[in-house]
Amino acid sequence: VAALPEGYQCRPVQRGDYHKGFLDVLRVLTTVGDVTEEQWNDRYEWISKRNDEYFLLCILDSNSHIVGTGALIVERKFIHNLGMVGHIEDIAVAKDQQGKKLGLRIIQALDFVAEKVGCYKTILDCSEANEGFYVKCGFKRAGLEMAHYY
Ligand code: ACO
Repeated sequence: VAALPEGYQCRPVQRGDYHKGFLDVLRVLTTVGDVTEEQWNDRYEWISKRNDEYFLLCILDSNSHIVGTGALIVERKFIHNLGMVGHIEDIAVAKDQQGKKLGLRIIQALDFVAEKVGCYKTILDCSEANEGFYVKCGFKRAGLEMAHYY
């Protein structure tokens, strides 16, 4: 397991993380929009009630500022004897913190949770540009993503 830099911490996302830069880290990934604190709280409540299905992690630097995040969603299936599949989503590391193995650390932590809860595999979608990162995290190319936007 990759070590975190001195003073850094990896932990589940908390309600108060709205004020610690959580959404700003996600902005390196894609559009976040103007999410108010009330909207954040509503979504946070919804997710935290499903704590056997949604696992959101973040990495804080030595100033308790969020510099990385990632999510695991555990899907319950009928196939494979009621098998469970982990879905890794929304991995992001702040631009000025990339290259310190924080991304690797997030994936390792989510992978650990997935295996621990009994998933038989974990899958994710990424761009070609990120393939090398996920290969270093132990993933391999499998299949093709299809999308239907509304
Ligand atoms: N291509 C090839 N190798 C890479 C890449 C890349 N794009 N990015 C990192 N690596 C390598 C690193 O060099 C390192 O290799 P090493 O062990 O030989 O030194 C290894 O992968 C681990 O890299 P980290 O330092 O852990 O990577 P970092 O903390 O910078 O995080 C991440 C990588 C998450 C892709 C980050 O660059 C980022 O946030 N990018 C913008 C948002 C993004 O694209 N997120 C992923 C979307 S896909 C999804 O969410 C499922």
